[in-house]
Amino acid sequence: MSEATPRVAIVTGAARGIGAATAKRLAADGFAVAVVDLDEAATKDTVQEIEGAGGRALGVGADVSDAEQVQAAVDRIAAELGAPVVLVNNAGVTRDNMLFKMTEVDWDVVMNVHLRGSFLMTRACQKHMVEAKWGRVVNLSSTSALGNRGQANYSAAKAGLQGFTKTLAIELGKFGVTANAIAPGFIQTEMTKATAERMGIPFEDFVKGAASQIPVARVGQPEDIAHLVSFFVSEGAGFVSGQVVYAAGGPRA
Ligand SMILES: NC(=O)c1ccc[n+]([C@@H]2O[C@H](COP(=O)([O-])OP(=O)(O)OC[C@H]3O[C@@H](n4cnc5c(N)ncnc54)[C@H](O)[C@@H]3O)[C@@H](O)[C@H]2O)c1
Repeated sequence: MSEATPRVAIVTGAARGIGAATAKRLAADGFAVAVVDLDEAATKDTVQEIEGAGGRALGVGADVSDAEQVQAAVDRIAAELGAPVVLVNNAGVTRDNMLFKMTEVDWDVVMNVHLRGSFLMTRACQKHMVEAKWGRVVNLSSTSALGNRGQANYSAAKAGLQGFTKTLAIELGKFGVTANAIAPGFIQTEMTKATAERMGIPFEDFVKGAASQIPVARVGQPEDIAHLVSFFVSEGAGFVSGQVVYAAGGPRA
């Protein structure tokens, strides 16, 4: 990769958490990074940190579940940064509830952000990857794909993303494009903080309790996931495709 023409990566949901850590890591790896989140203003911190470290970044506001906003965002990124050949579908939300209390809205919002969002973003970016005859797609699944109480919507979406990933690998492989999924366990972010709040448990206790169940005796940090993304999008990972790696500090969720 020459410094004059860095490859362009898009990370969705990159205003904070795993997405922000991934955007910063990919910038450090030499990519120009589009930091996509619902609100462009919210991407400011991530963009500034990347630029402060000497990297190149562009903050873009878009709801990944909206087809028009997705196309406009990808067009703008292609025009201002260059053709996006790396896509990390990381934007996510939870609307946890036991099945009998789960509303249609809880179901639809989670499906729309994770599944529709990843579909729309990948469809908009694949053209650039195919033209470049090189590309990398990384989708954020979850250990919840294996089933998790109170998460019928989220676990269905995260399991769905695994099937989506494997099909992308089959369809896009001949164009030099790989697709892989990462299924994180407990990662310390605003998302897990919100879960603790909903359960009425102080976050510190929630983290401690989770760590006691994890073989490496700690919870994950956003950088743990960013490291794995960095591997999947690297030049040398071109023969690894359609895989799901569980990054959970142990063999089981
Ligand atoms: N934290 C964990 O323990 C954990 C575990 C497994 C999987 N994951 C997955 O990793 C990803 C990142 O999680 P996180 O913990 O960093 O969450 P987070 O809540 O801290 O960050 C998610 C980001 O996505 C953005 N977002 C939400 N809806 C969007 C939309 N429609 N369009 C664009 N952006 C949108 C949010 O604004 C936010 O900045 C998610 O897909 C999540 O499901 C997280």
